[in-house]
Amino acid sequence: MRILVADAFPEEYRAELAAHGHHCSYEPDTTADELATSLAGHDALVVRSTAVTAEAIEAADSLRLVIRAGSGTNTIDRDAAGRHGVYVCNVPGRNAIAVAELTMGLLLALDRNIPDNVADLRADRWDKKRYARARGIHGRKVGVVGLGRIGLTFAERAASFGAGVHAVAKPDRDERTLERAHALGTVFVDSLDELARTCDVLSFHVPATADTRMLLDRHLLAQLPPGAIVLNTSRGDIVDEDALIEAMENNGVRAGLDVYADEPSSGTGTVDSRLAKHPNVYGTHHIGASTEQAQHAVAAEVVRIVTAFTTAEPSEAP
Ligand code: MLT
Repeated sequence: MRILVADAFPEEYRAELAAHGHHCSYEPDTTADELATSLAGHDALVVRSTAVTAEAIEAADSLRLVIRAGSGTNTIDRDAAGRHGVYVCNVPGRNAIAVAELTMGLLLALDRNIPDNVADLRADRWDKKRYARARGIHGRKVGVVGLGRIGLTFAERAASFGAGVHAVAKPDRDERTLERAHALGTVFVDSLDELARTCDVLSFHVPATADTRMLLDRHLLAQLPPGAIVLNTSRGDIVDEDALIEAMENNGVRAGLDVYADEPSSGTGTVDSRLAKHPNVYGTHHIGASTEQAQHAVAAEVVRIVTAFTTAEPSEAP
């Protein structure tokens, strides 16, 4: 296959694709707008941050496969792909540890005000008293919204710090998830409202779907205790950002955010400065999956998908 790799992708896995007889065009800085022209003559596309629009899919003359080198496929116009017979595959779970680690990092950063500490020292200010009131993670109630691969992996890390893990009881949870959750002593509550009311920290690990859109809305934010911490390393669309800003201003809510409703479609740009610059927010650049380990695990899976796609019957394509 002629494969366009339009985001950073480790060299050894590009070499592996070549060793399997594929031709890789490596254009890691391709923007969403450029994709429409760059895709010409390619059978497959591998992307991470670059959005794949309907225009790009429509302009592609021989595209058969799009692989999102990550879990979410919300940056790909799946309807357009479906209309043009293009398979869309994702790589779920391979970056779960990386995202869970960043979520812990944001929690620790917020609890200890680490970025502000660093900024003060860099500005030649020593003010030990200003930072003397952290609450600690041990003994805190951490509500985990979404007990999928990432949510559970984060819950395990929070529990290892001595936090109590809380989650919403759901009738359709599978045995394996329940086993892992019970092993952590997870306390199950009846509703998301109850989770918000009873926890000091609420961490979101859900995909962007019609059901999760604005899940953290004005109503849910109003249930949080004053000074609660909200963590979102999943998708920006699940938060009503205007309501979050109000909750930060009126109820002292603090937020660790890796994702935003309106992210640049090509990896660089800016996000809503009301959030990025808010003193109650520590924000990162959607870097949850950006560890070497995670990117290698994802790349290995991309190679496996390409191989499966080229060897499978059309009806069995991954
Ligand atoms: C995901 O969907 O898994 C993450 O957004 C991945 C990423 O940014 O690479």
